[in-house]
Amino acid sequence: MDLVLLGPPGGGKGTQAKRLMDKFGLVQLSTGDMLRAAVASGSEIGKRAKAVMDAGQLVSDDIVIGIIDERLDAPDTKGGVIFDGFPRTVAQAEALDAMLARKGRRLGHAIEIRVPDQLLIDRITGRFTCAKCGAGYHDQFQKPKAAGVCDKCGGTEFVRRADDNAETVTKRLGAYHAQTAPLLPYYEGKGVLSVVDGTQDIAEVTRALEAILDGAKVG
Ligand code: AP5
Ligand code: MG
Ligand code: ZN
Repeated sequence: MDLVLLGPPGGGKGTQAKRLMDKFGLVQLSTGDMLRAAVASGSEIGKRAKAVMDAGQLVSDDIVIGIIDERLDAPDTKGGVIFDGFPRTVAQAEALDAMLARKGRRLGHAIEIRVPDQLLIDRITGRFTCAKCGAGYHDQFQKPKAAGVCDKCGGTEFVRRADDNAETVTKRLGAYHAQTAPLLPYYEGKGVLSVVDGTQDIAEVTRALEAILDGAKVG
């Protein structure tokens, strides 16, 4: 079973995807992470994506659909994936439906992690990740147990994203409301949409997501 996590920038998609992976045997597919890797590698796609991402706008549908189409052919995705940050436009959602049907896969759930805009700027401007293993942290809400040391791998270098400044976040929020929010009625119409309250603390949001997925497993 495949799963789509929907929600605004800073809503907790990446945080929750990582927490669900092991329990449900799912692989996280974050188009944001894939595009940042392409930018870092200096590939042709990375060169085309960089300015758009820095401006807080959406990269073209063709690029992200192509990345996902290719990634879904890798054997590690056979047990199911969590789409994190994809789809982001109705055209991407339609392309995903066609792609999943073609590959004999099934979308079990689209879950919106709902968080009001005013909470998101703090979440995003306080975010940092381990440079070595990618574990995510926050200056206030999710500090490493020992300051300056990654809980997961012991790494001591951390990075902040180029687009995590207040000005770009406002643009990313605008793109979310204009281009991605229409996916909520899209998935509701297909009978796969659920909503969780993303203002709860991280562990509570995970429990709400697990309840939905556990239901799916039994049913
Ligand atoms: P992307 O990387 O997807 O960024 P985003 O959607 O803006 O989402 P974020 O990664 O900022 O937020 P998140 O929901 O993962 O939050 P997180 O869990 O880290 O995309 C970046 C760019 O790439 C886009 O702007 C676009 O240009 C391009 N792009 C990507 N996909 C695309 C697509 N499909 N089409 C076109 N363009 C695309 O949490 C944030 C912080 O809050 C963390 O520090 C965390 O510790 C903390 N936190 C999380 N949950 C809680 C909680 N419950 N309480 C307190 N703190 C919390
Ligand atoms: Mg993310
Ligand atoms: Zn680490």
